[in-house]
Amino acid sequence: MGRLVIVSNRVAVPRRGEAAAAGGLAVALKDAFSNRGGLWFGWSGTVSPEPPDVVRHARRAKVDYAVIDLSQAAYDGFYAGYANSALWPMFHFRLGLLSYDRDQAECYRAVNRRYAEKLMGMLRPDDTIWVHDYQMIPLGAELRALGSRHRIGYFHHIPFPPWAVFSAMPGAEDLIRDLLAYDLVGVQTHRDLAGLVDCMAQGTGMKMRAGGEVRFRGRRIRLRAFPIGIATDEFADVAARSADAPEAQRLVASLAGRALIIGAERLDYTKGLPERLKAFGALLNRFPEYRSKVTYLQVAARSREDVESYKDLKREIEHLAGCINGEHADADWTPVRYVGRAVPRDTLAGYYRAAQVGLVTPLRDGMNLVAKEYVAAQDTENPGVLVLSRFAGASEEMPEALTVNPLDAVGMAEAMKAALEMPLEERRERHGTMLRRLRENTVGGWAKSFLDVLEGHDAAEAPPS
Ligand code: G6P
Repeated sequence: MGRLVIVSNRVAVPRRGEAAAAGGLAVALKDAFSNRGGLWFGWSGTVSPEPPDVVRHARRAKVDYAVIDLSQAAYDGFYAGYANSALWPMFHFRLGLLSYDRDQAECYRAVNRRYAEKLMGMLRPDDTIWVHDYQMIPLGAELRALGSRHRIGYFHHIPFPPWAVFSAMPGAEDLIRDLLAYDLVGVQTHRDLAGLVDCMAQGTGMKMRAGGEVRFRGRRIRLRAFPIGIATDEFADVAARSADAPEAQRLVASLAGRALIIGAERLDYTKGLPERLKAFGALLNRFPEYRSKVTYLQVAARSREDVESYKDLKREIEHLAGCINGEHADADWTPVRYVGRAVPRDTLAGYYRAAQVGLVTPLRDGMNLVAKEYVAAQDTENPGVLVLSRFAGASEEMPEALTVNPLDAVGMAEAMKAALEMPLEERRERHGTMLRRLRENTVGGWAKSFLDVLEGHDAAEAPPS
């Protein structure tokens, strides 16, 4: 079996002496990498005015990490520009926030071409290539243009809208045709798959075959849903340990017996943070018995601060949190605790376990792993309740959560109340079912199923015996 080659925009090179970084893709790929070794290629995270045109390598366990720096111009045009000011809002159904600029679109393609050129020099003939996310859509096509005949798969981590939305993007047809360079295109949910199939059919005018397949230049391209999971048991262990650590203990002590509602994400307009704050305000206004009885902790890690719409969002959230606190706070009670920076993963796991309610209410989200982590982190004897947006990919797999529409503030306030009042037996039942499912569909299993289909080892593709 050949090596596994991963390409993603960001590459987390583990520190010396560590086998892999904690969390995210690194956990998903652990088994695949340890079985066959591999290469992980992408951006170092460093921006410099005139970066040296070299690939830097670091070897950890059986993996060769290969990274390049971005110039300031590439960062502005490719990353902050086309990827995060045009593609990101479009894929999240936010056409009003889409800001398209032809030069940035060309820069995006040029960066992908440069990645392809660098990668070609590092490939072996029997490598399998797996490309990740919207920053890298044209990479497969650029590799094919350079003569690559490898198996190449692409996984799209964020939502995939139907053609009615996608086609608003200038150059939409080219973008969708880029996907034809891959042998397998994976998305998170059935809803995303329906969007992808619709875009393929309408954007390329090609005939779709049964089971989500298209034929192009003698190749078969498969389109499939692979819902991503988490390392469930590992996260549950971390949460149980962290609950006893000083950080979580300090949080619990500071609540003085009040119930805790928690939300945690990157500060992103797709996450529905203003809507959530308004809903918490509605809880206190409509159900005054909760005043002074409940604290809402929102962790919002800074993200993409060079993009204008993210700056606006930060101001709006700070304003809303201030308003709610100004209206309801008491000398010994702050209703909203807003932490505007990232909290370490282990500490967060302990916080999740301490919270009676987990609020995961994005306006759109590919999957949302916080929803899954919140459930995995709970004490099975006395679990908290997940309030989940119907627009998170996770809601397809987690109907036992309290499902809400984040645009309905009163509906969300009622769901918070129902969560705070839910009897123990019902909490255990809902939580137990979700946890069982999370154990069946882990992130390691997700990576394996994608690679099995890409490499033709899945049962449906096996030749008749
Ligand atoms: C989302 C995207 C990822 C991205 C991450 C962090 O989860 O799907 O591709 O890496 O956000 O965003 P950033 O722009 O900081 O890489």
